Amino acid sequence: MSEVIRVTKTFFAYLKRPDLYPELGRKIIKNIFNRNAAFKGKEKTISWASTKAVSQSEAIQLLFGKEMQPFSEMFFVDFQNAVQKEQSCPIKMGGAGALELIYYACEFAQAKNVLETGVAYGWSSFAALQSISSRNGTLYSSDMPYLGQDGDQFVGYVVPEKLKENWKLFRFADRESLPKIFAENSVFDVVHYDSDKAYEGMSWAYEMLYQHLREGGVFISDDINDNSAFQDFCEKKNIDPTLISFEGKYIGVFIKH
Ligand SMILES: C[S@@+](CC[C@H](N)C(=O)[O-])C[C@H]1O[C@@H](n2cnc3c(N)ncnc32)[C@H](O)[C@@H]1O
Repeated sequence: MSEVIRVTKTFFAYLKRPDLYPELGRKIIKNIFNRNAAFKGKEKTISWASTKAVSQSEAIQLLFGKEMQPFSEMFFVDFQNAVQKEQSCPIKMGGAGALELIYYACEFAQAKNVLETGVAYGWSSFAALQSISSRNGTLYSSDMPYLGQDGDQFVGYVVPEKLKENWKLFRFADRESLPKIFAENSVFDVVHYDSDKAYEGMSWAYEMLYQHLREGGVFISDDINDNSAFQDFCEKKNIDPTLISFEGKYIGVFIKH
């Protein structure tokens, strides 16, 4: 699909969703006045991360004191079903991330309340729900669907039906979803950021997520290499995070003290 058709399709999809107008306004302003700011500090952070990063299994051992078992083996049947669902989905979205990291973080924190931004197929939601459902906890997710593809109904497609009773999905942009989520629950055991990857969006959300994370809770952010938002945030707060090299990108994680 050419860029013009994609942008036009996305624009008209936005027009059908008044609840997403605030995000449309922000996107238009960003594209006119601030197009390259999304990648601010990218090189600096890649060089920082490349000297500091460990593997996912090392991070799980270091932070949570556990030997990592593959998520696909621990929950074999549900995982295979999820893979089949993804393959049969007519809409193509981003694939699975570091599922073990999310699962072990929830186990470590004995999480009852987890907040994530960015759902897509729902792989990260599946990993968090698999842990918190055993404590009858709740996963609060924020996701603004891929509008250009008309993919609303497929958000969270791979999440097993039996886990959905512990799940609340807020279908807005983070700037609208997060205040709604905090109105329902204020303190979280684990937060996972995986939505808007622009410097400003990440910096804004990190502050909000950090404020609502309990002491001893786990903070995870995917794709910290897109810009220096995560590095700058950690430096400002005097946090020494663990960085994970994962499938050609970097994930940041720390326990709040
Ligand atoms: C990388 S995918 C999430 C993948 C998911 N965490 C997983 O592991 O399967 C990013 C998702 O964030 C959503 N998104 C992007 N910008 C957003 C925003 N400003 N607010 C809420 N969701 C957003 C996208 O539509 C997409 O569904």
